Amino acid sequence: MLTSRDYLTIDDFDIDGKTILVRVDLNTPMDTDDNILDDMRIKSHIPTIKDLEDAKVVLMAHQSRAGKNDFTTMKPHSQLMSQYLGKEVKYVDDIFGTYARTSIASMKKGDVILLENVRFYSEESITRPASEHSTTHMVRKLSPLIDIYLNDAFAVSHRSHLSIMGFTETLPTGAGRVMEKEITSLDRGVKGGERPCIFVLGGAKVDDSLTVAENVLSNGGADRVLVTGVVANVMLAASGVDIGSTNLDFIESQGYTDQIERGKEVLAKFNGKIGLPSDVAFNDGGNRVEAHVSELPDGNLPINDIGLETIVSFSDEIKAAKTVVLNGPAGLSEVEPFALGTHEIIKAAVESEYSIAGGGHISAEVRNLGYEEKFSHLSTGGGACIDYLAGAELPGIEALKSAATRYRLNR
Ligand code: 3PG
Ligand code: MG
Repeated sequence: MLTSRDYLTIDDFDIDGKTILVRVDLNTPMDTDDNILDDMRIKSHIPTIKDLEDAKVVLMAHQSRAGKNDFTTMKPHSQLMSQYLGKEVKYVDDIFGTYARTSIASMKKGDVILLENVRFYSEESITRPASEHSTTHMVRKLSPLIDIYLNDAFAVSHRSHLSIMGFTETLPTGAGRVMEKEITSLDRGVKGGERPCIFVLGGAKVDDSLTVAENVLSNGGADRVLVTGVVANVMLAASGVDIGSTNLDFIESQGYTDQIERGKEVLAKFNGKIGLPSDVAFNDGGNRVEAHVSELPDGNLPINDIGLETIVSFSDEIKAAKTVVLNGPAGLSEVEPFALGTHEIIKAAVESEYSIAGGGHISAEVRNLGYEEKFSHLSTGGGACIDYLAGAELPGIEALKSAATRYRLNR
């Protein structure tokens, strides 16, 4: 029973009684007391695990990165997951040592375990191809105990890391439900879906956003791109607006000064297809002060949001579109007076027929507004989502395709 798709899914395998290693993305903001501050990703994997209830499920995940404050164990994740799943997700504080292996070997049908933070093992985070990851100790120790590997960690699949790549060459491999949903839903955004299709690109990842803009405007994926956030500040500077030294310094501190030149080329090439803010909101000692871009005051105040006139005109355009893709916040959305642009853009987006939002900050605001259900698709990915929308090949997804080809050839 094979599907004609590029990658395999749970439906392609007989999972009954099998031991299945599932790479999930549970990476979550946490406070210093190890409390999980956001459960979106944890919740997202529940359908995958439920679909594997006749199997033995071994979950592998990471939390944060070495050196960061919230680089910690997976115990809190296992507790919250147990609650959402309605049965125990046993935390095993080991990755591929004796304790992990005996725990896996003694599992019964229906059991679910969560292994320790895979980034505690430094080889995990080396960027290299599947062929090299597949010969590591982790892969050699675990593969004999596992029947099937599933990648459900879309949000980290832009990284060619061990747990994303290594098992795809040693085990029958497919995508979990989160991965499937991300690919299918984002494809609809990338290909433009119903017309008109508008991309609203904000946040601080200026280089990635310009790549997305160039790609979707050249391949016809989008009819219009509206820019907000730091992306807009760079584009305003590129269009000749003097955004002031504080804002230029910030752009420099992020390593994006060269993007101003690039922005000029993008604006020239896609004349009229890129919408820039006509007014902005400055942060004056915590107060919101608005100004039209043709009359920006002298001074060194940071631009922290799009202005009201822009909010109205962008919202009108967004509401009139049939497909809307949001990536990145319109301003400093975590600070109350400057969340306005992001909130209004979100409210406009859900009025279109097909709406997608991606990236950690914007997803957090969607949830603050209680709008999760109103979006057609809320991506679990940050970097992975923007890379995918930009048309980049994600190593984790490419590995799923190669694994599917190999699996079919060997049958
Ligand atoms: C994320 O949160 O973006 C993913 O889990 C990947 O984490 P990383 O950016 O630390 O690699
Ligand atoms: Mg990231």
